[in-house]
Amino acid sequence: MSVIGCGYLGASHAVGMAQLGHDVIALDIDKDKIAALSACELPFFEPGLGELLRKSVESGRLRFTTSYDEIAGSDVHFVCVGTPQLAGSFNADLRWVESAFVELAQRVTEPAIIVGRSTVPVGTARRMADVVRGHGSRAEVAWNPEFLREGRAVEDTLQPARLVFGVESPQAEQLLRAVYRPIIEDGSPVVVADYATAELVKVSANAFLATKISFINAIAQICEATGADVLRIAEALGYDNRIGRDFLGPGLGFGGGCLPKDIRALYACAADLRLADVATFIRQIDVINASRRDRALSLGRELLGGSYAEKRVCVLGAAFKPNTDDVRDSPALAVAVAAHQEGARVVVHDPVATESARGVHPEIEYADRIVMAARDADLIMLLTDWTDFADIDPVQLSGVVRCRNMLDGRNVLTPERWRSAGWTYRA
Ligand code: UGA
Repeated sequence: MSVIGCGYLGASHAVGMAQLGHDVIALDIDKDKIAALSACELPFFEPGLGELLRKSVESGRLRFTTSYDEIAGSDVHFVCVGTPQLAGSFNADLRWVESAFVELAQRVTEPAIIVGRSTVPVGTARRMADVVRGHGSRAEVAWNPEFLREGRAVEDTLQPARLVFGVESPQAEQLLRAVYRPIIEDGSPVVVADYATAELVKVSANAFLATKISFINAIAQICEATGADVLRIAEALGYDNRIGRDFLGPGLGFGGGCLPKDIRALYACAADLRLADVATFIRQIDVINASRRDRALSLGRELLGGSYAEKRVCVLGAAFKPNTDDVRDSPALAVAVAAHQEGARVVVHDPVATESARGVHPEIEYADRIVMAARDADLIMLLTDWTDFADIDPVQLSGVVRCRNMLDGRNVLTPERWRSAGWTYRA
C-alpha cells in the first residue's frame, strides 16, 4: 500500500500499517522530510513513534519516496495530506488533497482503492471520486477519516476508538476490513457509511470536543463573576457518564492544527448551506475560545499592576498542548507574543517545543530550564499543562523571581501551596 503525505497523520499511519504487516511505501513532496524519515528520524516529536519507525524500516516493510511513479502500483493508496485553514477565509485549503488525487488518478490504471484520510469538508470525497473517474482511472474512492491525537498517535493508530469507512461498494468495505483486520479483531468497532457521513463524523467529533471546552470555559466565566469554583463543577459534571469529565478542562482553551481550523471549516459549511442558526452556534465556540486568550492576558496585566511595559514575564509552555512540539495556533504562544507586543520582556520555556516556537517567533526569548526563564520575572504564566509544571516548587522559585505572581492558565497548580509560599495566585 502507499501513504501520501508524511506529516503527523501520514507518518503515523504509514508506521501503523507496517506494524500490521503490510508492505508500505510512503510519499511526501518535501525532500527533507523524506530524507529524515528514510534515516529513521522523525521530523517532529511524538512519543513512541520513533522506535516503531525504526523497526518498520529495518524490517523492510516501510520505505519512503518523493516519486508518484514509484507508488502507482499499490493496491491501496491512503491520502493523508494536510488541509490547513485557507488564508483569509474560514474554509479549509484543499489544494494538497486535490493534487494528490490528480497525481494518483493519472497513474493508477489497474483496479485499486484510493482512501482519503485527511479531514475535509463534506462533499470532497464525491468530488475526488469524479476527478478519479474523469481521468479514466479504474480506482475506487473511499473515505476513512483519522482521529489521532498528537502525543498519542501510536495508540490512536493501532487501537482506534472506532474505524469509519465511507464507501460506495461492498468490495471497498471488504478491502478496508482486510487492511485493518488485526485492529478490528482487537475490538475496534467499524462504522460503515456513505461518503458524506464519513466526512462529517470526523468534523463533528472535533467540533464536539471544541464545544465541550468552550462550554466549560463559558461556565468558568460565570464562576469568575459569581465566586463559584469551575473545577468542582467540572468534577461533578464528569461523574455523569452522559457528560463525561474529558475535555471539560477550563483554561486557556484549544489550539493546534485541528480543532480551530475544523470548527471554522464547519462554520463555513453551515454558512454556505444558509443554516444561519447552526452557523451562529458553531461560530460562538471559536469566539469563546479566543476570548480565553484575552482573559489570560488581562489577568496577567492586573497581576503586574496595570501594564506589561518594561516587565519581565516568564511563560511556561509554548506547545498547543503537552506531549507535542507543535505550536500551530498555540494559545500559549499567542499569549506570550501578545505580552511581548505590550512591552514585556518575555522568556518562554517548554520541555520540547522551544525550537519550533523560535522558528515562528524569533522575537521572543527562550530558555532551556524553568529557573532560567523565571529569573527576575515579575510574573509567571503557566500556559501549557505539561505534567512537569504541576510539580514546580513555589518555595524554590521564590528565590529566583522578582515578584511572586503566578497566573495558572491551565488550572494545574494547587492554589493553597502557592499562596502559602507567599505568591499571588490567579487562574
Ligand atoms: C484533535 C482530536 O482530539 C483528534 O481526535 C483528531 O484526530 C485531531 O484533532 C485531528 O483532527 O487530527 P489534537 O489536535 O492532537 O487532536 O489535540 P486535542 O488533544 O484534541 O487537544 C486540542 C486542544 O484542546 C489543545 O490545545 C488542548 O490543550 C485543549 N484542551 C483539551 C483544553 O483546553 N481543555 C480540555 O479539557 C482538553
